[in-house]
Amino acid sequence: MSAVIIDGKAIASALRVEWKARAEYLKEKGMQPGLAVIIVGNNQASSIYVRNKVKACNETGIYSEVHEFSENIDECEVLKRIQELNKNSKIHGILVQLPLPRHFEDRRIIASIEAGKDVDGFHLNNIGALVTGNAVYPPCTPYGVMKMLEKSGIQIEGQNAVVVGRSNIVGKPMALMLLEKGATVTICTSKTRDLAEHTRRADILVVATGKPRMITAKMVKPGATVIDVGINRMPDGKLAGDVDFDSVKEKAGHITPVPGGVGPMTIAMLLCNTIEAAGRIQSGIEPQVNTGNNT
Ligand code: GUN
Repeated sequence: MSAVIIDGKAIASALRVEWKARAEYLKEKGMQPGLAVIIVGNNQASSIYVRNKVKACNETGIYSEVHEFSENIDECEVLKRIQELNKNSKIHGILVQLPLPRHFEDRRIIASIEAGKDVDGFHLNNIGALVTGNAVYPPCTPYGVMKMLEKSGIQIEGQNAVVVGRSNIVGKPMALMLLEKGATVTICTSKTRDLAEHTRRADILVVATGKPRMITAKMVKPGATVIDVGINRMPDGKLAGDVDFDSVKEKAGHITPVPGGVGPMTIAMLLCNTIEAAGRIQSGIEPQVNTGNNT
């Protein structure tokens, strides 16, 4: 039997209706949420992601500004701009689109963002909060995956979860968030020996490797929930995930498509974190103390 398709686009749209109402409420209170996006260089995929993020802000009533820098800019110029944005009271969230050019030190850039404005959840303070189960701004992609699982009624506690990919943006925070909800978590990479032996034990399989269609039906447990974070441009111009959707959908219980799966959720959770940041200032909650409302 064919798997249930988890429609990320529909889930994200429904959430965005909620976020819009929250943003409007904050605007009425004189605190319109504001996001600044920094992009360096002319990576085509990054430009599209940034455009989509700004469009989503506009549609949700979030103020946004884009700060573009050329590929060869000195890192100091970007650090200077971040310092200005840290002090700008119209801006509640600062996002530096990754990847950055090779001459940049990502760690230094991320560390310079005020942790309370780090709506990507990449600052060490926010990573520390995530590790200890106190995340205020969970990284947007794994946060979106958790929301999809919740909205699809997928049980997490006690389940075997396997994450394929160990990036700081997706794999590592994803594993921590599943662990926090009581899953037994295994982290693999595309290089893991006997990868299929691990993936075949997964009740929940999350794949974020950037290797198109690497997960095939024989690597999946019957009835498993398969979440595909990959988005790869194929030579014929079409998009493909890291999961071989056509074969895996015949074996899985639930599966996300590409496009229309995790991608729209990442943007929805960025809006959520930005509104959270503004809401905390409006209601006088410390920007970095978990009050138990998140994740
Ligand atoms: N590049 C790919 N995904 C992301 C993300 O979630 N945040 C940022 N800042 N850059 C990215």
